[in-house]
Amino acid sequence: KLAVATSSDRKKFLSSMAETGLDINLFDAVICGDEVVQTKPSGDIYRYAAAKLCLSYEETIVAEDALNGLSAARDASCSAIGISTSFSPEELLLSGADFVIPSFENFGDFSSVEDFNVLVEKKIQDTVDSTFIGKLVDEASKTMLKAYAPYSKFRVGAAIMTDKGGIYHGCNVENASFGATRCAEQGATLAALASEGPSVRFKALAVATESDEPAPPCAICRQILSEFSNPDLQIYLYSIKTKKLLHYSFSKLLPKVFIL
Ligand code: THU
Repeated sequence: KLAVATSSDRKKFLSSMAETGLDINLFDAVICGDEVVQTKPSGDIYRYAAAKLCLSYEETIVAEDALNGLSAARDASCSAIGISTSFSPEELLLSGADFVIPSFENFGDFSSVEDFNVLVEKKIQDTVDSTFIGKLVDEASKTMLKAYAPYSKFRVGAAIMTDKGGIYHGCNVENASFGATRCAEQGATLAALASEGPSVRFKALAVATESDEPAPPCAICRQILSEFSNPDLQIYLYSIKTKKLLHYSFSKLLPKVFIL
């Protein structure tokens, strides 16, 4: 199933389609900007597209060359392919792409949903291996080994990348007085602040644990991270045991931020 979701109004969309010479019947649904109250970067247009295709948001995959569009895809909980015609792969990833390709010609051929999913997994793995994502996950995993967790035996490592490209590390440090325990994400936050000062901005965070399911930052850590992050902070959660990697934009993990 294939849909177009464009911020343009229908008239502009139809003239663009005429330019391309593509048959509009290729698409099972077309949603234009004038059909939603909030346009991209709100996820509304992709939620509407998924609904029209009778798909859940999670089984919908968005292809975008625009940063606002990737933010919208992630806001709608869809997976996202970044096409690097207008922006660099790093810019696309930092706006929420799960993987980046130069054009659809680089995607590969498929004839079933299973083939398609195999290709997607491979593209994600290639992207992780060749970009800051792999480095950040690796650094979080190494930092996990330094955790002091004699009470819970649950070790956590975190690595934060800032907008200046700095990488800062933290691990959990427990205490016999349990409430004095500090989480890995807090350690990495303090290290980033101490190095780059109060105007620091976080672009990406990796968290590594040994649990079967990758563990997300706790609610207190999310609130702490929010002080130095935009909704587009990219979060990668990794299990060093199962090698499972989950990817979220921060706005998904903390939709309503408390601010003063
Ligand atoms: N922990 C973290 O390091 N980060 C979180 O976001 C959740 C919990 C640590 C704290 C404690 O040492 C152990 O995990 C079990 O709660």
